[in-house]
Amino acid sequence: MIFKDSIIIGVIGGGSMGSGIAQVALMAGHNVILCDTSTFALENAKANLYSTFKKLQEKGKIQNADVLINNITFSNTIDALKDCGLIIEAIIEKLEVKQSLFKSLALIVNDTCVLASNTSSLSITSIAASCAYPDRVIGLHFFNPAPLMALVEVIPAIQTNTAFIDAAKNLMLKWGKTPVIAKDTPGFIVNRVARPFYGEALRIFEEDIADMVTIDYAMTQIGNFKMGPFTLMDYIGHDVNFVVTETVFQAFYYDARYKPSFTQKRVLEAGWLGKKSGKGFYDYSTNSVQHQPNTEPELLNIICERIVAMLINEAIDALYLKVATEADLETAMTKGVNYPKGLFKWCDELGSDYVLSLLDNLYNTYHEDRYRASVLLRKQAETKSKFLQ
Ligand SMILES: NC(=O)c1ccc[n+]([C@@H]2O[C@H](COP(=O)([O-])OP(=O)(O)OC[C@H]3O[C@@H](n4cnc5c(N)ncnc54)[C@H](O)[C@@H]3O)[C@@H](O)[C@H]2O)c1
Repeated sequence: MIFKDSIIIGVIGGGSMGSGIAQVALMAGHNVILCDTSTFALENAKANLYSTFKKLQEKGKIQNADVLINNITFSNTIDALKDCGLIIEAIIEKLEVKQSLFKSLALIVNDTCVLASNTSSLSITSIAASCAYPDRVIGLHFFNPAPLMALVEVIPAIQTNTAFIDAAKNLMLKWGKTPVIAKDTPGFIVNRVARPFYGEALRIFEEDIADMVTIDYAMTQIGNFKMGPFTLMDYIGHDVNFVVTETVFQAFYYDARYKPSFTQKRVLEAGWLGKKSGKGFYDYSTNSVQHQPNTEPELLNIICERIVAMLINEAIDALYLKVATEADLETAMTKGVNYPKGLFKWCDELGSDYVLSLLDNLYNTYHEDRYRASVLLRKQAETKSKFLQ
């Protein structure tokens, strides 16, 4: 099965993700129909797309702003989507609402249309189960902002016709994206493997091993991450980041590895959402003064190694549990969240026996399940094998 260049793409939800996905599909040459129940959201999306295309044309990045603008139509009703070849849903993150939408969609589309969900945290299988054609439902998880972020996680539900997996992957390649295939498990790849970047940083802070500025400094200066965990959580917004952590924790039946932190919960409860609200872990008002980090090399190293070991362990466990291939896990973490290097490469450089010793030391200190090493890491350490040959 292939998606023809001529198919009309339907996008439902004209918020940040839906309008970004519509932009990507338009720029790939498709006609697009964008649906939203809110007229305000549609008008907003229309104005943003118009101004984005005009700006891109002024910068010489595209020559056909008017054509692209003419290739999209906006609608308040999903009936407008009846001739689409692919519909990507990007509405509110509520299972019942998505299920009801997919059920209605299945009643109006033709029998070749594929229905995709951009959900960050819900099971694609449960969304697929709500409609008459579960075999034609798949997850296509774009990252924010969709036009700029290369990664797309392609997530087949257990009911999905396998022919659509390659078809979706090839379409994403045509759209200039970097697709990876993920099993329908909580957080898929990125939102699962990245959890310790936040969770372990918060734990180190809560234990008073270091303050936030120092933890951020360790991860940017020693780990070469673009942003430290506290800066990144403020940037993402605690309303989004904490909710993803909490959802993943619940979806994993309260596995201690994904346990949310009270420090972040309180910040969210206070309404300190991060950069967008002017205050989060840090104060973004103009006259705020940020104190200096502790730059003692030994402390910085302990922080960085502890967080990186937890990230590596998470990636290795995802590989062990067949969430994705090693290559896709590596791509997802470098392209999706811009990690300075893939976690398997990092493990090979540090040595799997060394990474295991870091985790086992944590486990022996705390006696918490949170620090259990993946059985695959243990096997690799025993045989001293490398992941990437
Ligand atoms: N924001 C992110 O960083 C991000 C990243 C990846 C995936 N996602 C996922 O994408 C989806 C959308 O997220 P967003 O950030 O764009 O949300 P958003 O709040 O910006 O936009 C959602 C839009 O959906 C519309 N809507 C709600 N219910 C609808 C319905 N029944 N029919 C039609 N339109 C409806 C709303 O009016 C709104 O315009 C969610 O599932 C989210 O988990 C978000």
